[in-house]
Amino acid sequence: MQDLSVVVLAAGKGTRMKSRLPKVLQPLAGRPLLAHVLDAAVALEATGVTVVYGHGGEEVRARFAAAAVEWVEQAEQRGTGHAVQVALPRLPAQGRTLILYGDVPLIRPQTLRQLVDVVGDGRSLALLTLELADPTGYGRILRDARGRVQRIVEQKDGSAEELAVREVNTGIFCVPNALLHEWLPKLRNDNKQGEYYLTDIVGLAAAEGVAIHTLAVRQAWEVEGVNDKLQLAALERQHQRNNAEALMRGGVTLLDPARFDLRGTLEHGQDVEIDINVVIEGQVRLGHGVKIGPNVLLRNAVLGDGVVIKANTVIEDSEIGAGSDLGPFARLRPGSVLGEGVHVGNFVELKKARLGKGAKAGHLAYLGDAEIGERVNVSAGVITCNYDGANKHVTTIGDDAFIGTDSQLVAPVTIERGAYVAAGSTITRTAPADALTICRARDQKSIPGWKRPVKKK
Ligand code: UD1
Ligand code: CA
Repeated sequence: MQDLSVVVLAAGKGTRMKSRLPKVLQPLAGRPLLAHVLDAAVALEATGVTVVYGHGGEEVRARFAAAAVEWVEQAEQRGTGHAVQVALPRLPAQGRTLILYGDVPLIRPQTLRQLVDVVGDGRSLALLTLELADPTGYGRILRDARGRVQRIVEQKDGSAEELAVREVNTGIFCVPNALLHEWLPKLRNDNKQGEYYLTDIVGLAAAEGVAIHTLAVRQAWEVEGVNDKLQLAALERQHQRNNAEALMRGGVTLLDPARFDLRGTLEHGQDVEIDINVVIEGQVRLGHGVKIGPNVLLRNAVLGDGVVIKANTVIEDSEIGAGSDLGPFARLRPGSVLGEGVHVGNFVELKKARLGKGAKAGHLAYLGDAEIGERVNVSAGVITCNYDGANKHVTTIGDDAFIGTDSQLVAPVTIERGAYVAAGSTITRTAPADALTICRARDQKSIPGWKRPVKKK
């Protein structure tokens, strides 16, 4: 939006979080509260964003070092009006400013756009308000007989009559910069808390006949702040409910939307089905017809069409070709790339492993730093010995090879195409193409009359 500045108030201490982590760095859906607020500013295409920080400032700045924001320190928290005053030198003389709170993470850009629109480029201001059954703690919106806003009174300063008002200030304002420059220096702290209240600009506006618009937000969660872990959890649930609803509207089947967590972004095709307790982190893309079983973690993964992930599988930084099936209990560590129609079964761990089209590793295997061709069969108990205690080495397996059960492939080593490695072999040199390679203790002996040990009495 044109000529729009955003000021984010984030200097509060957050004592009630009882945490060493500054409040605005507490995670919601895996990202700091402040990141959600800055997302809203980015969505509005604000021309400048200023964050007023205080407690834990260096840590907050370091965490957002890459963000296109300006930082101003409010060393002492002397009230919301003082906080905006500290940011004032950064605000252009013209244009308008949206004031947001760093601990109110679920505000929607659509709502903010409406608030900015009512201000336009005129000499008026706009407040986001909320009607509450129990308004305790909030600033109350006081109106005259004709319904025009007169001022805002804080909980600690209000008379019984004023405190009976249920229309409250959410704290989110949009104000022309010219008026902020004019009014903020006039604020006084002669109130019960000895603070400079931003809300006092409303009284100044009314006295000068400046129009005061209000926009009532319908869903309280949009403007709810986080002061303790209970409120953090409540907003996390709300956010996840919103995620789940958006996905279901987009055609995804969620077996239980209350047991689904998205901490990142999910792109999906049609007819995707997700069972309970699935956690999605980072950037995940699911093709058409993908089915995800219960208790699955997907972090930064791309799954092709028709992929089936069975229960209790963990996939990180990996790509899975169309028609593959994984799990139950499979673990794909970063850098695994699977071709089409690959089967990875229970208790198989992959790390930086490429498996060609139609390859299978059905049970109990570790394949690390491995290049595995098409239609290769990796039997139960196969281990790539990829680490010599100092360095990692690659195992290469050609197309159509068969690796018998309980074999160790000591890398660097190559199993050529069509090779057959007999069960129980320890392979340290190239296994040639189309031949049987066997390497195990030679003769099988049987000792007749051998006695089993007996338990001592
Ligand atoms: C404020 C409003 C109140 C409104 C309520 C909504 C004022 C005077 N009161 O009250 O009308 O109903 O929010 O939640 O504005 N902050 C700073 N520096 C400061 C003080 C606050 O950065 O010196 C930040 C806090 O980190 C927080 C936000 O401003 O993000 C609001 O501060 P808070 O102390 O929670 O305000 P309230 O007293 O609850
Ligand atoms: Ca508050």
